[in-house]
Amino acid sequence: MGAVAAHILRSTITLSHAIHIDGSPTCFVQAGGDTVLRAALRAGLGFPYECNSGGCGTCKFDIVGGEVHVLWPEAPGLTERDRRKGRQLACQCVATGELAIKVRTDPEYVPRILPRRHRARLIATADVTHDIREFRFATENAAEFLAGQYASLVIGGVDAPRAYSMSNLPNEQGEWHFQIRKVHQGQATTRLFHALQIGDEVEIDGPYGLAYLREDNPRDIVCIAGGSGLAPMVSITRAAAAAGLLGTRKLHFFYGGRTPSDLCGEPFLQELAGFGDAIVYHCVVSDGASAKAIDWSGNVGFVHEWLPRLLGGDLARHEFYFAGPPPMTQAIQEMLMVTHRVPFQQIHFDRFF
Ligand SMILES: Cc1cc2nc3c(=O)[nH]c(=O)nc-3n(C[C@H](O)[C@H](O)[C@H](O)COP(=O)(O)OP(=O)(O)OC[C@H]3O[C@@H](n4cnc5c(N)ncnc54)[C@H](O)[C@@H]3O)c2cc1C
Ligand code: FES
Repeated sequence: MGAVAAHILRSTITLSHAIHIDGSPTCFVQAGGDTVLRAALRAGLGFPYECNSGGCGTCKFDIVGGEVHVLWPEAPGLTERDRRKGRQLACQCVATGELAIKVRTDPEYVPRILPRRHRARLIATADVTHDIREFRFATENAAEFLAGQYASLVIGGVDAPRAYSMSNLPNEQGEWHFQIRKVHQGQATTRLFHALQIGDEVEIDGPYGLAYLREDNPRDIVCIAGGSGLAPMVSITRAAAAAGLLGTRKLHFFYGGRTPSDLCGEPFLQELAGFGDAIVYHCVVSDGASAKAIDWSGNVGFVHEWLPRLLGGDLARHEFYFAGPPPMTQAIQEMLMVTHRVPFQQIHFDRFF
């Protein structure tokens, strides 16, 4: 695309455009370069979504009239069939003028806290493991989110925002803590780990996500983190302890890592009242050879295999929260729903695409 055409496109997508939902009186405004999805959520609509990152396909919609600019044409959330039918991902496109779309909104997706953009400054970092580091940012306004939710970070020099889950609790001081795993040659994580300095700024846009702690049911809680899925499970455990939920219920925290040196999470739980009693930590290592090499005597295998053994009894007595790589979340979901008949409403998860 030539420089003039690119400038015209940039101007059209940063203007405000009305988006109508076909067959309903609902209309919302896309402004400030938002995607269709973010504009809908900022307007308080229940637009279906999960990852906000082009991976899951939950935000698919059909265009009835008007045009969009697609940010990531190869996004894996669309199948070839979707592309042939002209379907779009609301999290990966921006209206370039007035738009009419077909989508089925659902009250389940209505944001409990409307997402907002904040300028944020890096205030501290600390290593959690050899490849996971906690990054703490501060914003001028309060950090408003539900435990288990994530935010989208716009990082200078990275061509698209990346989603990261908060590990702390919402707070008036405006602190947002993220526990981020370094990805080999990953664009965002290379910037975060090797270029970002204390005092540098990023944009935090959030909160997003539906895998947040449900406080008002009496079931025991199970949190399962695989690899980089640590942060939201730490946040949920902290919130359950802070809300006094663990006086009458138990919380089982599972961490699945590849090798013993990947294991983490326990020190965050040890700071909480009820650790070792109401809060129980379990860990599993998937690479048997690395465990054998250091005579590690803990559990070896996949976390979804150990879960029924360690929990025992009827799994449907629990409320499940989990986060991590898609193959792990898929295996846990199948085990819970197919093998153990846990109702879908008791299962809350984020796939980290
Ligand atoms: C809901 C959610 C929560 C997450 N929470 C955490 C967390 O708490 N901790 C953690 O370590 N990781 C988390 N992740 C993963 C994180 O967002 C990044 O995928 C990961 O850090 C790798 O980023 P990278 O840029 O270093 O790697 P890359 O390999 O450079 O990028 C990987 C990801 O970037 C996105 N991407 C790539 N190209 C494009 C493009 N052209 N346009 C738009 N997007 C693109 C895709 O989502 C892809 O999976 C989360 C992901 C999701 C979806
Ligand atoms: S929310 Fe758009 S692909 Fe996941």
